[in-house]
Amino acid sequence: MKRVDDFRLILGGREYVPIVIGGMGVDISTTELALKAAQLGGIGHLSDAMVPTVTDRRYKTRYVKDKLQKHKFNVASSDKSMVHFDLGQLEEATWMHVSRAMEAKRGEGAVFINCMEKLGMNNPRETLRVRLSAALDAGIDGVTLSAGLHLGSFSLIADHPRFRDAKLGIIVSSLRALKLFLRKAAPTGRLPDYVIVEGPLAGGHLGFGMDWADYDLADIVAEVLRFLQAEELRIPVIAAGGIFTASDAVSCLESGCSAVQVATRFTIAQECGLPEKVQQEYLRSVEDDVVVNTISPTGYPMRMLKSSPAIGAGIRPNCEAYGYLLDRSGHCDYISAYNRELEKSGGKLSVQDKTCLCTHMRRFDCWTCGHYVYRLKDTTVMLDQGAYYLPPAEHIFHDYQFSTEDQVALPAPPARAEPARSKAG
Ligand SMILES: Cc1cc2nc3c(=O)[nH]c(=O)nc-3n(C[C@H](O)[C@H](O)[C@H](O)COP(=O)(O)O)c2cc1C
Repeated sequence: MKRVDDFRLILGGREYVPIVIGGMGVDISTTELALKAAQLGGIGHLSDAMVPTVTDRRYKTRYVKDKLQKHKFNVASSDKSMVHFDLGQLEEATWMHVSRAMEAKRGEGAVFINCMEKLGMNNPRETLRVRLSAALDAGIDGVTLSAGLHLGSFSLIADHPRFRDAKLGIIVSSLRALKLFLRKAAPTGRLPDYVIVEGPLAGGHLGFGMDWADYDLADIVAEVLRFLQAEELRIPVIAAGGIFTASDAVSCLESGCSAVQVATRFTIAQECGLPEKVQQEYLRSVEDDVVVNTISPTGYPMRMLKSSPAIGAGIRPNCEAYGYLLDRSGHCDYISAYNRELEKSGGKLSVQDKTCLCTHMRRFDCWTCGHYVYRLKDTTVMLDQGAYYLPPAEHIFHDYQFSTEDQVALPAPPARAEPARSKAG
């Protein structure tokens, strides 16, 4: 019976435990979580979503206040086209977030950053260039391009001195997306160092339509592996989405994947950025509590708990402070949805079809999760007070690395004795 630990991910001549903790914005995959993965020999991700608000909270900068102050005159206007990010501040914030993490890094693993290309920030090209370059300047080991896959992203940083030495990867949900990217990146003479194939059971935004249930991770992975083999492209494939147990991970590795990317299991880790109250919501959830909807203004379906406060909220768009989802013409779908409801009703608003994702992610009010969130309760123990114990990330990582036969190793809270073993439902 094989274990994940019997395999290794090889990237650029270095060996890693083949467990990647996926990027979870906004600061749900914290620096601490990413550093733990690296310390244990795997790969952790920072997220580059809304980094200025993250550094404000972590390092007491004032980027959000400054931006709001500068654009205060526009708060009541529905035209957000003049709300721009200061590129110098964006660079500074990204550099601070990444460099502090890299200075603290220990162990043989790596820390990558998940770069959400769908964050248009009212200037998609330049803000993306700044975010990518600053992360490379600050010493990030690798960049994973996600959500949006701007086909020209590699060319934005082709002149950067670290363009060839940093690991660059992409997340795709279809062979078609991979082929398009490879064609577009060809002029830079650089292939991605890894390809993450994310299936329909993942958390966050989905690279599928509302017909996501018609797709299967194993089928897409097999198709991608066949294509890469036929083209003689030696690019490691990393499977993601619904890989809940160590045995799920071993199946992926035996089918030809070089590693797995996992996230939902780590949403209840002590090092995860979600407030404990939200972690307990994840732990208490049942299958029927999970929904895939289209309230994200990005246009991508997103999976979340039905009880997320972000659903149906009617707050005023907060683009002067945030504005990460403004497209190149300063528009976000939430703004039109909000204004439509504002015209209809004078009183308290509820916007059902879209949400102010920046604000709600920042407040941890959009409870996005992978499909198997409702199985988390089977991966830990209940404490006497009725709340679940939050395990350290190391426990979850080692469960993936060493468990066999669909077993999940239960953690032992400090005051408890021997860890038990159970089958995860
Ligand atoms: C809470 C949460 C937030 C996420 N946020 C992001 C994100 O900001 N960017 C991204 O590319 N993927 C995001 N994801 C997807 C994960 O990185 C990962 O690929 C996926 O969830 C793996 O599937 P699993 O959760 O079933 O293990 C998120 C997932 C979760 C659970």
